[in-house]
Amino acid sequence: MSMALPANPVLPPMPSADPMVPHIARVRSVRQDLADVFTLEIALESGEVAPFAPGQFNMLQIFGVGEVPISFSGDPAEQDHLIHTIRAVGPVSKALTELGPGDALGLRGPFGVGWPMAEAAGQDVVIITGGLGLAPLRPALYQLLAERERYGLIVLLYGTRSPEQILYRDELEEWRRRLDMDIVITVDHADTDWRGHVGVVPALIPHATFDPLHSIALVCGPEIMMRYSIMALLDAGLKEDNIWLSMERNMKCAVGFCGHCQVGPVFVCKDGPVFRYDRIRQLLTLKEF
Ligand SMILES: Cc1cc2nc3c(=O)[nH]c(=O)nc-3n(C[C@H](O)[C@H](O)[C@H](O)COP(=O)(O)OP(=O)(O)OC[C@H]3O[C@@H](n4cnc5c(N)ncnc54)[C@H](O)[C@@H]3O)c2cc1C
Ligand code: FES
Repeated sequence: MSMALPANPVLPPMPSADPMVPHIARVRSVRQDLADVFTLEIALESGEVAPFAPGQFNMLQIFGVGEVPISFSGDPAEQDHLIHTIRAVGPVSKALTELGPGDALGLRGPFGVGWPMAEAAGQDVVIITGGLGLAPLRPALYQLLAERERYGLIVLLYGTRSPEQILYRDELEEWRRRLDMDIVITVDHADTDWRGHVGVVPALIPHATFDPLHSIALVCGPEIMMRYSIMALLDAGLKEDNIWLSMERNMKCAVGFCGHCQVGPVFVCKDGPVFRYDRIRQLLTLKEF
């Protein structure tokens, strides 16, 4: 099957003799966000800056344990350090979340195709995310807010399992006070103090305010959430080519060599992880996804 691939820009990997050779980075600080989620601020030992585009990722390596893809979750305008938010789910991610200030790790990247920030200019931007899916979208939010006048309405629809699972809570509260963006949070299970929405994220879409004919949607989260969100966006009148989503696949090389992340003709590591919906719609039905 032939397929046109996304045309949004990719930043080159950091200068390195070999994209497979990790840079040495050190942890500057660690913040615990949730019981099993930690945000690391790290810097390259060489002092090099590390420009990235929202939606791109690094391969983070714990020597002797392994290497995993982790999205950038910090502000792309701040280039002297990198921010990664990590959920401890297995050996490598757990070891990463156990690092402390001064500890060393390996870093390769940035890799992949990011969110379509240029295409979003002049349009309403609808960000739909669930759980840790907010992390890869946070750099996009920073950029949207830094260049606020370039975009129409900015709507963030965010779902978590429960109120205590809300990621970046303080920042969301701060953004909520802004008059130039709309944030709606929903939880699967409320506690007695919760005054917000209860239910799944896709259910928020029909009630959100945006112009479907002049909107772009950025979607990231669990697979099932993305599927239902896309259906709701299409029902709301968005066109398929205005819906973008970020896919997760196990990765090894991250540069299109090993085929580990391949689905049909697509390498998620280098053709994605962000894809325009109409370009991968058929692949979403494949079992691997
Ligand atoms: C492009 C890309 C960007 C990513 N960005 C981030 C990020 O910003 N932050 C982050 O925490 N993770 C992110 N991930 C997921 C992360 O790479 C995996 O969680 C990690 O590879 C798990 O490796 P492990 O060795 O710790 O656990 P493994 O041994 O690989 O997995 C342990 C167990 O956890 C399950 N598992 C694996 N991945 C996940 C997951 N994502 N969520 C829930 N359960 C899982 C496995 O099925 C297995 O049962 C990203 C993945 C991709 C492809
Ligand atoms: S991870 Fe090796 S080809 Fe994508």
